[in-house]
Amino acid sequence: MTTIPTVKLNNGVEMPQLGFGVFQVPDLSECEAAVTEALNAGYRLIDTATAYQNEAAVGRAIKKSGIKREDLFITSKLWVSDFTYDRAKKGIDASLERLGLDYLDLYLLHQPYGDTMGAWRALEEAYHAGKIRAIGVSNFYADQLKNLELTMTVKPVINQIEVNPWYQQSTEVAFNQGEDVRVEAWAPFAEGKHSIFTDPTIAKIAQAHGKTVGQVILRWLLQRGITVIPKSVHPARMVENMAVFDFELSDVEMQTMAGLDRHESQFFDHRDPVTIEQIFGSSLKKLKE
Ligand SMILES: NC(=O)c1ccc[n+]([C@@H]2O[C@H](COP(=O)([O-])OP(=O)(O)OC[C@H]3O[C@@H](n4cnc5c(N)ncnc54)[C@H](OP(=O)(O)O)[C@@H]3O)[C@@H](O)[C@H]2O)c1
Repeated sequence: MTTIPTVKLNNGVEMPQLGFGVFQVPDLSECEAAVTEALNAGYRLIDTATAYQNEAAVGRAIKKSGIKREDLFITSKLWVSDFTYDRAKKGIDASLERLGLDYLDLYLLHQPYGDTMGAWRALEEAYHAGKIRAIGVSNFYADQLKNLELTMTVKPVINQIEVNPWYQQSTEVAFNQGEDVRVEAWAPFAEGKHSIFTDPTIAKIAQAHGKTVGQVILRWLLQRGITVIPKSVHPARMVENMAVFDFELSDVEMQTMAGLDRHESQFFDHRDPVTIEQIFGSSLKKLKE
């Protein structure tokens, strides 16, 4: 079984460099089965979120696994509809309850909208109370991250953002790393967009190492100092996605990968008012219903 190396976050907490994401696994029995398989394969970091509506299934798989709690690293996220101080306090407790856990290893503000400072204050309190070992953000641009850092007391340990070969985010990655905020890549495979798994450039590199395209992508991210959380509901792919610590890409191969950048999100621009309306506005509307 592959042992996953850890990295030390800016608050001293050790975190696996590679984990397992469960976005778009809304069927609870499928999610429970996938997390069970992932834990059997050796994953110890599980990345869920309130918005994925599968925290309870993740919790059941954890309980069933019998793995010691201290050997696991469980991440969840607060959704934007809970971004006030009072609602965030309840939201944290609700995540813990759904997961059936006494504490979370990492909890993130899922989006950079609304009363992020109020919500962050609730995360800080939960952090000081020992309910969360590390707190971070997701989808924050450099200015939003800096603003939060300067306003609040506890510095985020992580910024979970989209990073994949088509959207490499070099400037944002460098900014976060310069602030000692660890970058965690969501959609490392761009969810398969633009035939990523058969891309001839990546395939050529993969062939040279006797690896797959997916493994080369994950290795390229890890060599950029980025944590990865690929998702798959297929056990063979879970094993494949973990086997990325026994080879190294050369400088030339890293440069070749850099050349694939399309400089464009494969999903949405978090600054576009239409996106903000879709993500934040619609959540506020649901709250009022
Ligand atoms: N913070 C945020 O806003 C945010 C947004 C999106 C995602 N995330 C997190 O990031 C995690 C990963 O991102 P993602 O799930 O969006 O996308 P992803 O990991 O880039 O791609 C997942 C897709 O790739 C397929 N796949 C996985 N491994 C493969 C392999 N070795 N060969 C061929 N196909 C493979 C999966 O199919 P099968 O499942 O059928 O194998 C699935 O369709 C999520 O699960 C979630 O935890 C966070």
